Amino acid sequence: MSNNNRLRIAIQKGGRLSKDCQELLKQLGVKLNLREQRLIAHSTNMPIDVLRVRDDDIPGLVMDGVCDLGIVGENVLVEVQAERERQGVPSEVNKLSKLDFGYCRLALAWPQELGPQQKSWFEGKRIATTYPEILTQYLKREGINASTVMLTGSVEVAPRAGLADAICDLVSTGATLEANGLMQGDTILESNACLIQNKDLQDPSKLELINTLMPRLRGVRQAKE
Ligand code: PRP
Ligand code: ZN
Ligand code: MG
Repeated sequence: MSNNNRLRIAIQKGGRLSKDCQELLKQLGVKLNLREQRLIAHSTNMPIDVLRVRDDDIPGLVMDGVCDLGIVGENVLVEVQAERERQGVPSEVNKLSKLDFGYCRLALAWPQELGPQQKSWFEGKRIATTYPEILTQYLKREGINASTVMLTGSVEVAPRAGLADAICDLVSTGATLEANGLMQGDTILESNACLIQNKDLQDPSKLELINTLMPRLRGVRQAKE
């Protein structure tokens, strides 16, 4: 659906994955002129444009064919997929590769002073999260009746602010939970960054370019092992 023949890759503009994404593109031999504040960066040596957007927007851009490829955390991919499935809009992508960065887990957490808790403690509680679809499916699976409070950021302050009893958020180093006096509970989802492709991509020159990039990606990944 993109209106030119340059391969469009969506990556996160600012956040946990941005540095690693830029590093990966460099290792793949994609030279970029990444000037700050620019939405689109044109490669100087390949027919590639890199779009730097919010991570939450990446799956949708690829599913709708606005971008051909995207690098995104599985956490965001699974959440957007569930949301779009419910809405009946295209939600499939081809997952080309798992990547070796962006590891994190989506976990439950609650105020430290309450001490360890069983799953039953969540009954009737309010849980703040940026991942309402994944959380709702988990609660359903576990048979827990709890309500979700959707927050797009600062989820970790929700209990202290009286907005929720507990949270369900990403944990990487654990520093955020620690700094906010929260105790980590069950992991709901483990996540890594991954490379996704629009499933209807047919442009032969773009597919050929992807075919030259994939062995390089495998090489980069093997070199890291
Ligand atoms: C996540 C999460 C916490 C932080 C946890 O945000 O919301 O703020 O990372 O990491 P830590 O355990 O190492 O302290 P992230 O930057 O991934 O995403 P966001 O900006 O989309 O919330
Ligand atoms: Zn985000
Ligand atoms: Mg955050």
